[in-house]
Amino acid sequence: MNELKRYTNLENGLYLSILGQVFDVTKGEKHYGPGGTYHAFTGRDASLAFITGEFDDQGLTDDISSLSQRQVKALDDWLQFYNANYIYKGKLYGRYYNQDGSPTAEFRKVQEKLLLAKREKAMEEKQERMFPLCNIEWNRDTGTVFWCTERSGGIERDWTGVPRILFETAGAQGSSSRCACVNLDSKEYEDNKARLSEYDGCEKYATKCVLRNKT
Ligand code: HEM
Repeated sequence: MNELKRYTNLENGLYLSILGQVFDVTKGEKHYGPGGTYHAFTGRDASLAFITGEFDDQGLTDDISSLSQRQVKALDDWLQFYNANYIYKGKLYGRYYNQDGSPTAEFRKVQEKLLLAKREKAMEEKQERMFPLCNIEWNRDTGTVFWCTERSGGIERDWTGVPRILFETAGAQGSSSRCACVNLDSKEYEDNKARLSEYDGCEKYATKCVLRNKT
């Protein structure tokens, strides 16, 4: 920990630590050098500030217990960024690694959170492939137009689908919802019928649907 403190200048080099892993970021001098926007990251582990952007004494800490799963995932993305772009120097003895280099209980907790976040993200991605977003356009005269194409929602596929309302939770009409393109021949449709409903006033099998403005 104390040794890392030396690496905040160009004589010794610029090092930073993220989740207890130390990187030489000297080649990023314009960001991390004295006077640089991100100089505060050098010579310490300020993992929390990578997410909060708070570069004061309270923010510059390696304690990330306040972060959500999603934020831990974002922090891990930073770690991947440093691995890909800078030189890995080793582990920092402290919150995340023991003196013998083994991970601490706290490190394992972070790993667990990360795993959950990755699973959740994978589920969301699966969901978006199953039920891609519709194209939506609002027009003062005609109303709201929902339509599906073989690439709506940014999902390339060999079916088009028809616009349906997709609710977050089954049967909960009050829960948040969005327009989804649904392949009526799919097993996913059969499995998720309870979360899907037709738009009032839209043809059942039409790939395009206009909801007229209420007058
Ligand atoms: C949580 C808040 C933020 C954090 C932790 C953060 C962190 C960083 C870090 C570490 C770098 C250097 C990356 C490298 O080594 O190449 C960087 C670069 C940069 N950041 Fe941020 N940043 C934050 C917010 C912002 C915001 C709000 C802006 C813009 C308004 C911004 C603009 C930039 C720019 C322009 C670069 C330079 C890109 C380049 O020249 O390669 N950052 N940021």
